[in-house]
Amino acid sequence: MGASPDDASASSPRPSLLVLYGSETGNAQDAAERIARDANRRHYRCDVLAMDDYEVTELPRASTALFVTSTMGQGDPPANMKRFWRFLLRKSLPAASLAGVDFAVFGLGDSHYQKYNVAAKRLHKRLLSLGANPIAPLGLGDDQHPTGHEAALDPWLRDVWTSLRAKYPLRDGERDPADGEEATALERCRYSVEVVDDADAADGVDKRGNKGKWWRKHVASEMPTTPELCAAAARRTRFGTSSSTRCLYSPGDSVAVLPTPGTSTGGQKACAAAAEELLRRAGVPSDAWITVRPNVDGGGDALEPAMPAMTLIMGALDLTSASPRRYFFEVAAHFASDAAEKERLTYFASAEGRDDLYRYNERERRSVIEFLDDFKSVNLPLPWAFRVAPRLRARLFSLSSSPSSHANELHCTVSLVKWKTHYGRAREGLCSNYLARLAPGASVATWIVPGTLRLPPDASTPMIVVCTGSGVAPFRSFAHERAAMRARGDKLAPTLVFFGCRHREHDCLYEREWAVFDEPRGVLAGDVDVPGAAPPADAPADGPRWFVPAFSRDAPDGSKDYVTHRIIAHGARVWAMIAAGASVYVAGSTGRMPEDVSDAFEAVAVRHGGLDAAAARAHFARMDATGKYSVEAW
Ligand SMILES: Cc1cc2nc3c(=O)[nH]c(=O)nc-3n(C[C@H](O)[C@H](O)[C@H](O)COP(=O)(O)OP(=O)(O)OC[C@H]3O[C@@H](n4cnc5c(N)ncnc54)[C@H](O)[C@@H]3O)c2cc1C
Ligand SMILES: Cc1cc2nc3c(=O)[nH]c(=O)nc-3n(C[C@H](O)[C@H](O)[C@H](O)COP(=O)(O)O)c2cc1C
Repeated sequence: MGASPDDASASSPRPSLLVLYGSETGNAQDAAERIARDANRRHYRCDVLAMDDYEVTELPRASTALFVTSTMGQGDPPANMKRFWRFLLRKSLPAASLAGVDFAVFGLGDSHYQKYNVAAKRLHKRLLSLGANPIAPLGLGDDQHPTGHEAALDPWLRDVWTSLRAKYPLRDGERDPADGEEATALERCRYSVEVVDDADAADGVDKRGNKGKWWRKHVASEMPTTPELCAAAARRTRFGTSSSTRCLYSPGDSVAVLPTPGTSTGGQKACAAAAEELLRRAGVPSDAWITVRPNVDGGGDALEPAMPAMTLIMGALDLTSASPRRYFFEVAAHFASDAAEKERLTYFASAEGRDDLYRYNERERRSVIEFLDDFKSVNLPLPWAFRVAPRLRARLFSLSSSPSSHANELHCTVSLVKWKTHYGRAREGLCSNYLARLAPGASVATWIVPGTLRLPPDASTPMIVVCTGSGVAPFRSFAHERAAMRARGDKLAPTLVFFGCRHREHDCLYEREWAVFDEPRGVLAGDVDVPGAAPPADAPADGPRWFVPAFSRDAPDGSKDYVTHRIIAHGARVWAMIAAGASVYVAGSTGRMPEDVSDAFEAVAVRHGGLDAAAARAHFARMDATGKYSVEAW
C-alpha cells in the first residue's frame, strides 16, 4: 500500500516512512495500516509492506523504518517475515550496515506464552547490532491486556511521532492532529464494488453462481464430515477424503477449517439476515450480483468473477460472531447520519475512548450485526464493508487421526467454546460450534497445515507426552501411528502420557482407546525396556500404567489435581525416561499450562537428576533448542 501526502513542493526534505510488518492472522498488519494512516495525517508519505514483500537489500537506503511484528508458534516469526529475517541474520552483514536507518519496533504477543514477543525482541536487538538508530523504545503489545495490543501501541506511537517531529518540524500551514481528533477524510477505500446486471453475471466462470475463482484460489479442498460425540464438551469431526491420507499429512500436522456458518443449517438464517441487512444499508438489492475489485494502488484480493452479493458476503465476511476492529468504528463514524451516533463512534475510535470501546465491543464479543442494530444510522457502503468488516478466518485443529491407521479419513478433536460475557450474554466460538453442528455428509473447506510436533524418527526413542483437554489430539495420532509402526515390525520404546481434564465422566477424551493402548505390553508400554521407567510395582493391577490422568475437579474434598502434580508424583520415572533420551511433548490450550509444566519438569530434574535449579533450566533449554522438548499451545 502506498500512502501519499504530496511532498513535491516540500521546502525541506521529509523522509518517506517505511512500515514493515510480519503478521500471521492480521493483527500486526492492522496495526501497521493504522500507523500509516496516522503518518499520513502527520504529513509523512508512507509505504506499508509485509517484510517478505520488501526488497531487504534496499533497507540500508531507507531513512526511517517502523517494524511491527507478532510472534507465532513457540516464539517464531510470522510466515511473511521469515525470508527477511533469515537475511538479517546473515553473519556476513557488516556491523554498521544499517547505520543510516532510524527505526522503531512494535511487537504483538501474548504474555501467556513462554516466549513472549520474542520475534519483536530479537528483531529490535538485531537492528541495533547492525547499527540502526532507535527513535523509540521497543513497544510490546499483549493480548492479555484488557484492551489488547492497542494499550501499548498508543503510547509507543506517541513516542515515535514526537521523535520524528523533533527531527522533521512542521512546515508553515501544517499542524499535527490533536489526540482523539477525528480524521477529516478517510483513506481511499482499497476495494471497489460493481453491481453487475444478470447478463454480465451469466458470463461468469461459475454459472451456478455459488463459488467463483476466489473460492477455488483460497480453498484447497472440501471434505464431507461426520461429527461424533467423544466427550460432553468436545466433538470429534471425521473428514472423509477421496484419496489416501498416507501422503496427505504426518502425525502432528493440523487441519485448517474455514467456517462458513452461512452454509450450515444452524447458522444459515442468522447469516442470511445479517447479509441482507448489510446490503439494505448499502443500498444494494439483496438479489444483486457483484464484483469486488482491488483499487490498483490500494492492494487486496480480487473477488471475482461476479457472484451473488449474498453468497459473497456470507462466504467471506463474519457478521454474526467476530467483533470488528477499532478502524471499523472510525469508518462507521464517517457514515453515521445521526449526530449522537457519530459522536459516540468518533469517541470509540479515539485513544481516550479505547477502554469504553473495549467494554462495548471486544469484551461483549459484539458482532457487526449487533452493531448495526445499535447504530441504526450507519449506512456502510459495500466497498467499505468489505474493507473493515471482519473476514471469516480459518481455525487450526491438530489432527487426531493417524495417516497409517485411518485410511481416507482425517479426525480432529474439537472442544466446544462457549462462555458468558461480562453482562451475561451467552457467546460461542464460531468454528468449534460450526463443526459440532454440521449435518453428517456436509462439506467443509479444509487444508493441511504442517505442525510443530513431530514423532521421533526412531520408534525406539521414548516419549513423554503432557496434554490437557483437546491437546490430546496430536498424541492420539502419535499413539495410533506407533501402533501401526509396531505392526510393521518396529520395536517401540515406552510412551508416558499425562492427560489433564476436569471430570473423568464428561471430559476424559478417548478413555477407552487409552485403556487399550495402556494394557500390559500395549503400545504405551512398548517393547524396549527403559530402566526405572516402569510403573511402580505396588501400582494397582487395574490402575493406569503409562497413561496417567489428572482430573482437576473430581476430588471429593475439592482439592485440585493437575498434570503438573502427576509429573512430580511420577518424577523418578520421568527422569529415568529423560535420562534415556526421551522426547518431551506438551500440547493444549494456553493459560499458564506450558509454563507450569516446564517448572514441574525442572523440579523433577532437581529432585531426581541431582541438578541445581540453573542447571535444570539449562537442561530443558538445551532440549528445546535441539527439538527434544516441543510445545504446541493455543
Ligand atoms: C496449532 C493449533 C492447533 C489447534 N488444535 C486444536 C485442537 O486440536 N482442538 C481444539 O479444540 N482446538 C484447537 N486449536 C484451537 C482452534 O484453532 C480454535 O482457536 C478454537 O477451536 C476456538 O475457535 P472458535 O472459532 O470456536 O472460537 P472463536 O470464534 O475463535 O472464539 C475464540 C475467542 O473467544 C474468546 N473467548 C473464548 N472463551 C472465552 C471466555 N471464557 N471468556 C472470554 N472470551 C472468551 C477469546 O477471545 C477467544 O480467542 C488449535 C489451535 C492451533 C493454533
Ligand atoms: C498459534 C499461536 C501461537 C502464538 N505464539 C506466541 C508466542 O510464542 N509468543 C507470543 O508472545 N505470542 C504468541 N501468540 C500470540 C500472537 O502473537 C498474538 O495473538 C498476535 O496478536 C497475533 O498477531 P498477527 O495476527 O499479526 O499474527 C501466538 C498466537 C497463536 C494463535
